[in-house]
Amino acid sequence: MIDKRYANKRGGAKTWSAGSRKWLASWAIGCLLQYSAGMADAAVATPVAGVGQPAASLQVVHWWTSAGERKSVDVLAGRLAEENIQWRDLAIPGGAGLGASKVLKSMVLAGKAPEATQLNGIVFGEWADLGLLLELDDVATPGGWQKLLFPTVWSLVHNRGHVVAAPLGIHRINNLFYNKKIFDRLGLAAPRTWPEFERVAEKLKQAGVTPLAQSSEAWQVATLFETLVLAESGPVYYRSLFVDLNPAAFGDPRMTHALKRLRSLKQWMPQPLRERPWPEATRQLADGDAAMFVMGDWAKGELLAWGLNTDQDFSCAAVPGTADYHLYSVDTLAMFAGDYSHQPAQEKLAQLIMSQPVQSAYNQVKGAIPVWRAPDLSKMDSCARASWSAFSKGSAFQAPSLVHRMAADETAKDAIVAEVHHYFVDDKMSESDIQRKLASIARSVSKTGKQEQ
Ligand code: GAL
Repeated sequence: MIDKRYANKRGGAKTWSAGSRKWLASWAIGCLLQYSAGMADAAVATPVAGVGQPAASLQVVHWWTSAGERKSVDVLAGRLAEENIQWRDLAIPGGAGLGASKVLKSMVLAGKAPEATQLNGIVFGEWADLGLLLELDDVATPGGWQKLLFPTVWSLVHNRGHVVAAPLGIHRINNLFYNKKIFDRLGLAAPRTWPEFERVAEKLKQAGVTPLAQSSEAWQVATLFETLVLAESGPVYYRSLFVDLNPAAFGDPRMTHALKRLRSLKQWMPQPLRERPWPEATRQLADGDAAMFVMGDWAKGELLAWGLNTDQDFSCAAVPGTADYHLYSVDTLAMFAGDYSHQPAQEKLAQLIMSQPVQSAYNQVKGAIPVWRAPDLSKMDSCARASWSAFSKGSAFQAPSLVHRMAADETAKDAIVAEVHHYFVDDKMSESDIQRKLASIARSVSKTGKQEQ
């Protein structure tokens, strides 16, 4: 039986449709299988805020464990502590939240949902439809969130007329970070096109510097790949692939080109290419072991946390061919609807997250930009300003990150990421092979695909 505590705020106890029960049942089986592995990875919960006895506390599940990410969490926990609310930290290691999403599901299933969680992307809708999430309208409406937020962010946190998450910041994924000192020493400028990239990479190689940092971890390979798809085609085609999951789009020559580009970039990467966490790949750039790095701008948060400075030690350019576009991932905290005893503290956290000072302070250390349409630009470095300008151009210039859960659901995302990774590590796999496989994944998971069958 479903725990009554997971009742929809406005509607009282949730009526569970047959579809919801079926979804939950399959989810439960998956979670139970993953439960032990997931929990083994979980970091021990450590309170990071509050001295003495705070009046209230909130357990928060997230995957921010690197130096820059920890500093960002400290901003939030510190502000919450000023309100006499303790942030009880449950950080699950694993870039892009692979571990955290499994542990979170297991906790919910065991009736131990945290009060708040990092819950990025379109998965909100499913969780909100199940009545699991606290609706935040009592904060969002008086706070004027709809006017303050970029429309894309507003529609992301909004489900069936209710606000179901508090947005923290917008990450740009299509960044080409480069080591400024190496570039200056060799008289190089950031490449804006792929032919320029090849010339720069060749010069770096001749100077004995690895041109491009990279890890072979699947989500990091796929993160690079989605920027290449955008470079090849722009947001319209990108969306037909990863949002519409249109099987025919996967057979397109633009996909073939993006795949070939992914494979050809291997020649500029460290050899042998190892699977390493993203902060280690970022470290290659910081130490000058590699001169460029394509990664979401949480990597900038990391570089700053290590004491490096924007435009002195490193700079950001867009991935060649993507300067006009913004491949985005929005970080959000959702609150679980429990017995409502935590509701005042949960609403306070949501309110703080959306306040101008927290938006500014948090995003400066996180490497992201505020979710406000009109943020304080004076607090932004050149990377953040470029990100803000690109995002501000509107949805025609925005592309939702597949890998970071903005485009498709977890099943489609995981299947596509696994195939792209397979293609990347196995040089024997041809473009037409993987394109056929991707089209067949799309056919099995998308509405378009089902109609075609
Ligand atoms: C993303 C998330 C970022 C950062 C990154 C690396 O999915 O949006 O906040 O944590 O993963 O783990």
